[in-house]
Amino acid sequence: MLYIHLRKCFDNAAINTSRDRESSYSKPYKMKAASPLLLPVLAILVLSLSCANPNPVFNNFFPCLSSHSSPLYPISDVFYTPNNSSFLSVLHSYIRNRRFSTSLTPKPFAIVSAKHESHIQSTLICARQCGFQVRIRSGGHDFEGLSYVSEVPFVVLDMFNLRSINIDIAKRTAWAQAGATIGELYYRIAEKSNVHAFPAGVCVGLGTGGHFSGGGYGNLMRKYGLSVDNIIDAQLVIVNGTILNRESMGEDVFWAIRGGGGASFGVILSWKIKLVPVPAKVTVFNKKWTLENNATDVVYRWQQVAHKLPKDIFIRAWPQVVNGGQKGMKTVEVSFVGHFLGKSNSLIPLMNERFPELGLLQTDCIEMSWIESTIFWAVFPNGTSIDALLKRASKADVFFKAKSDYVKKPIPKAGLESIWKVMIEIGIRGFMQWNPYGGRMSEILESETPFPHRAGIIFEIFYYMFWLEEGTEATNHYVNLTRRLYNTMTAYVSKDPREAFLNYRDLDIGCASPNSNESLSSAKVYGAKYFKENFDRLVRVKTTVDPDNFFNNEQSIPPLPPYV
Ligand SMILES: Cc1cc2nc3c(=O)[nH]c(=O)nc-3n(C[C@H](O)[C@H](O)[C@H](O)COP(=O)(O)OP(=O)(O)OC[C@H]3O[C@@H](n4cnc5c(N)ncnc54)[C@H](O)[C@@H]3O)c2cc1C
Ligand SMILES: *[C@@H]1O[C@H](CO)[C@@H](O)[C@H](O)[C@H]1NC(C)=O
Ligand SMILES: *[C@@H]1O[C@H](CO)[C@@H](O)[C@H](O)[C@H]1NC(C)=O
Ligand SMILES: *[C@@H]1O[C@H](CO)[C@@H](O)[C@H](O)[C@H]1NC(C)=O
Ligand SMILES: *[C@@H]1O[C@H](CO)[C@@H](O)[C@H](O)[C@H]1NC(C)=O
Ligand SMILES: *[C@@H]1O[C@H](CO)[C@@H](O)[C@H](O)[C@H]1NC(C)=O
Ligand SMILES: *[C@@H]1O[C@H](CO)[C@@H](O)[C@H](O)[C@H]1NC(C)=O
Ligand SMILES: *[C@@H]1O[C@H](CO)[C@@H](O)[C@H](O)[C@H]1NC(C)=O
Repeated sequence: MLYIHLRKCFDNAAINTSRDRESSYSKPYKMKAASPLLLPVLAILVLSLSCANPNPVFNNFFPCLSSHSSPLYPISDVFYTPNNSSFLSVLHSYIRNRRFSTSLTPKPFAIVSAKHESHIQSTLICARQCGFQVRIRSGGHDFEGLSYVSEVPFVVLDMFNLRSINIDIAKRTAWAQAGATIGELYYRIAEKSNVHAFPAGVCVGLGTGGHFSGGGYGNLMRKYGLSVDNIIDAQLVIVNGTILNRESMGEDVFWAIRGGGGASFGVILSWKIKLVPVPAKVTVFNKKWTLENNATDVVYRWQQVAHKLPKDIFIRAWPQVVNGGQKGMKTVEVSFVGHFLGKSNSLIPLMNERFPELGLLQTDCIEMSWIESTIFWAVFPNGTSIDALLKRASKADVFFKAKSDYVKKPIPKAGLESIWKVMIEIGIRGFMQWNPYGGRMSEILESETPFPHRAGIIFEIFYYMFWLEEGTEATNHYVNLTRRLYNTMTAYVSKDPREAFLNYRDLDIGCASPNSNESLSSAKVYGAKYFKENFDRLVRVKTTVDPDNFFNNEQSIPPLPPYV
């Protein structure tokens, strides 16, 4: 198949089995007829409704949806096939990576852009009956497009219409539906209070559905941990259409969806979160050093101190290749982007004492409200109004490939210098962001949520490479360059396993082979990197809530046999 090159699994540890894994993945998902979860009546329907005719969507899927939906919420309002003129614009509205919006990208048979919970329930029931896989999409930021691309016949369950947010400032809690973006959440919190916030990502278009269920980190991480560390309830639609909350799903399932990836377990409908206190004014800065100005020394020190600083301060180190002083010469510039929960007159003495190498001056500091700081961090132009938090992009701008790593001990200066050299060779389209851990992150046990990267990590690395050229050749070229930078880092990052962040989805680290005898062992390859010891518990939870593996994708959690 032509599009396979985009979605290959390159796992060196398992290179010998990768071809088998791919070919077994491309086999259509086979429905198990006699599911213990389905009512007997449904089981008969499953057996009698053949979806093998030329147009299963129209002949069976749509009538099935209609018969399972209330006339009060007509399914025809939210149902799109390629015959609807808006099909492609709906599909592309929530694609954030152009790699997965080309003519080669497999398209869904249908999109259901649910406006009511009955639309979710009927989509699950009818997709199951007609043998479609369901891909669930909230904000569409999945790095590998897993929320809207599949190699088997599939439909997209789109959550973007389900975006209500209810803030209860008196109780310091909020409910947010999965299709709300974190920018909208931040905005609604700030409408009610300028001294409350929520710890989540810096890219404000992220959907809470995917972002929270994969962990969710941002500049409040050292103070308050991840988004999942501050979630107190959720609504989840499971495979038979039942809607569960924390009490009815039980603590195991509630544990799994907070960091284990929602898409293995069901459809997150909404989250209940705990708001956190912030001061009325926070301080931000962006202090830049280039190699010519001893950036290496500053980064070297940053590695020793950033994870040990008080929890109120978060300083990201962001090395990028830029044009140097001399014509045609490239250099590395490192931005130290900081967020401090307090005013600059307390920050400056703290930095002078603990991190004088940064050379932070009063004039580098900008004080603002927390909500304004979300605009600064999202790298909107200076002066952008906070109304920008409510805007949604309509299509992807760039092609990209991204990866992640975790570092446990400082990289020596010689190592840093060799990294800069490779970055300069790779060029200006690639960069890394180094995010300090410590603080609250090291206080939370590895087993408390599925997200295991806690004490002992000094910083996390985000690799990003983008390009604008269309075509497979460009994709191969830039994806190769990203892998080259990642390989350069091997000596300096965690090993056995080389840990990875689920929200920074990367199919290079392993792929599922559902419905095969290797289902569990192939999932363990990526599962150990994303979840370490928590993988086994995720498998047990999966077995209770989706034993037939209806919810599966290239990197989902498999159930235990015999249901492989
Ligand atoms: C530009 C950019 C910046 C980013 N910045 C950060 C950051 O600062 N911090 C951070 O932690 N991460 C960051 N990420 C990563 C981001 O958290 C993940 O891509 C996340 O999965 C996005 O969620 P989404 O809903 O937007 O994506 P989607 O593509 O819609 O979903 C991602 C995954 O979650 C599943 N899913 C989505 N909705 C649901 C649901 N309702 N129920 C069950 N499963 C669901 C999907 O099927 C898919 O597997 C960034 C990504 C991008 C592209
Ligand atoms: C898509 O087309 C079908 C068939 O014509 C129609 O029933 C449905 O309402 C259309 N969808 C939308 C959202 O208009
Ligand atoms: C699209 O419309 C054509 C012509 O009306 C019809 O033959 C086909 O079955 C429709 N396809 C889908 C997926 O609805
Ligand atoms: C759906 O599954 C849950 C959990 O197994 C079960 O409690 C519930 O009765 C099922 N509901 C239906 C309608 O089958
Ligand atoms: C870089 O470091 C060297 C040695 O420590 C020092 O002599 C030099 O002044 C520094 N350069 C800058 C621009 O800070
Ligand atoms: C934005 O510009 C104004 C005026 O030019 C300046 O005072 C302010 O510090 C700038 N803010 C940021 C975040 O750069
Ligand atoms: C990618 O890298 C591999 C080896 O690392 C090489 O064999 C292949 O030719 C490269 N492809 C491109 C397009 O550069
Ligand atoms: C699993 O292994 C058994 C025994 O080797 C074999 O009979 C069976 O066909 C295999 N199943 C699949 C799905 O590969």
